[in-house]
Order: sequence, then C-alpha cells, then structure tokens
Amino acid sequence: MKVCVLGAAGGIGQPLSLLLKLQLPAGSELSLYDVAPFTPGVAVDLSHIPTEVCVTGYVGDDVEAALQDADIVVIPAGVPRKPGMTRDDLFNVNAGIVKKLVGAGAKACPKACFAIVTNPVNSTVPIAAEVLKAAGVFDKRKLFGVTTLDVIRSNTFVAQTVGKSTDEVNVNVIGGHSGVTILPLLSSIPGVELSQADIEALTPRIQEAGTEVVEAKAGAGSATLSMAQAAARFTMSLVAAMTGAAVTECCYVQVGDDTSSFHAQPVVLGKDGVESIPEIPSLSDYEQKLLDEMREILEGNIKKGIEFANAD
Ligand code: LMR
Repeated sequence: MKVCVLGAAGGIGQPLSLLLKLQLPAGSELSLYDVAPFTPGVAVDLSHIPTEVCVTGYVGDDVEAALQDADIVVIPAGVPRKPGMTRDDLFNVNAGIVKKLVGAGAKACPKACFAIVTNPVNSTVPIAAEVLKAAGVFDKRKLFGVTTLDVIRSNTFVAQTVGKSTDEVNVNVIGGHSGVTILPLLSSIPGVELSQADIEALTPRIQEAGTEVVEAKAGAGSATLSMAQAAARFTMSLVAAMTGAAVTECCYVQVGDDTSSFHAQPVVLGKDGVESIPEIPSLSDYEQKLLDEMREILEGNIKKGIEFANAD
C-alpha cells in the first residue's frame, strides 16, 4: 500500500503523516510532498520512528515522483481560514492548488483513491472530479471529500451531552462540509435519545465547530490536530476497505450520474473505493427542513467548482 500526502509539511499534513506512520500496515510506503523546502526533513524525522512503514519526502517540482503508483492520495494542501472568513473565502487560492495537484495525480497514479481535505471541500472535490474527467481517468468510486471531522466532532459533543463514552456514539453527518451544509443526524443515533432542545442546540454547534477553532486560534489558522485525526481515520478506513474489510464512513462523494451530485452521507467502502451508498437514514422534520434549506447552497458550491475547473 502506498499512501501519498500532498501538503505533508503543513499544520494538518505533519500530524496526519505522523498518525499514518504509526498506523499504516507493515510494508506500506508513505510518500510526503509539500512546497515547503524542509519536507524531506519531515520525512527523515518520521523515518526514525520504529514502524515498518517506509517514509520518503519530495519537494518542489517532484510532485509526480511523490505520487508515482500511489494507491491513496490524501490532500490537505492549501491555506486555512482566519477569523471572519468562511471556507468559501479560501476558494480563490485553494481551488488552483487542488486543480494542479489532482492533475499531477491523474498522470502519476490514475487508479488511486483521492481523499480531499482542502477547503472549501464542497467545491474542491467537484474540481478534482472535473480534472480527473478531463484526463480520462475519473472513477466516481475513488474520489472523496473528507468530512470525518464533522463525524468525530458530533460524536464528541453528543457523548459529552448524554454522558456516554465516545466509543458508544456514532453520528451520521450528511450534506457537505461548511456551515449549514453540515447536517448531523442527531434524531437517529443508535442507542442515544436526544431531546429536541438538545438537537437544536447541538446542530448549530457542530455546524460552526470549525469556526469555533478558527476563532480560538485567533488568526493562527484552523483545525489541524483534530483534522489530522479525522483524515487519518478516513485514510485507515480506505486502507482497511481496500484490503478486504467492509467499512462504512460518512464522506462527500458523487451519489448520482454526474459531478453536480456530490453529497456527504454514509458510504460502504470496498476494495475499489465506494462499494455502495445506502439510503440516508430517515430524517426528522427538523432535519428534513435543514436538508431542504441547504440544497441551493450546496448546489452553488458544486457549480462554482465545476465552472472553475473548466474555465480554461
Ligand atoms: C474544520 O472543519 O475545522 C475545517 O474545515 C477547517 C475550517 O476552516 O473550519
């Protein structure tokens, strides 16, 4: 198994690479790429940790070398938000970064699974889809927006509310990955009964949890450590699925026939990426209203990505 992290020297990339060095199966290769000149140094640093995972570092023009024959490509590259910004405000910088990196992946590892962390995920994933389509290598089963942070936050906040261990709570989160497009399904958590008052307090907290971190970091960026944990969990689920286990994760995938149909929901992963997309669990009236209200925003985010990717 070869996993390539693009943006490996950044705030998310470094802890993500550490978690992967610790968790990937013995014999795996972890390939780190970033524009930062010290990226090979991050690889050397990690290579001193005693696990059977071989780490290599690449910088500058070597992105295709880093990506060569990767099975999984995880992309946290890009700039983070500052207080007062939305994820969509990152579009102008991050859209071009994702377009370029996925273009390199289309050449160097066209059969890989691509997991996009770079915000705004609602738009960067459709950009990646268009780039892969233009290169003739798009497989909708193998492109993912990583929304796992919304799941682990939901699990944490719900567990705190009901006094359970986080291991006992599994919240499905659907829609997208920004503001009102994040819809945690709090009315149907197995083994957990929340009051409607709790649901109406927790839902906006989960939707704005990224902003909570951005404000707490006061200009120094957004979630890095929890995002790294979320991306590592998703990557390890992909690894498990690709090596034979059936794993279900909520993630942002193309659910219909065209790239305007991206949506986060529970997805069964298998050896070729998405194996099946089960029906969304039944929604309460409150959740259905929020889903109806977000549609136009999500569609706009997707359209913006598609138009950008096809602009020249
Ligand atoms: C998050 O959810 O924390 C990330 O998407 C980063 C951000 O800008 O909120």
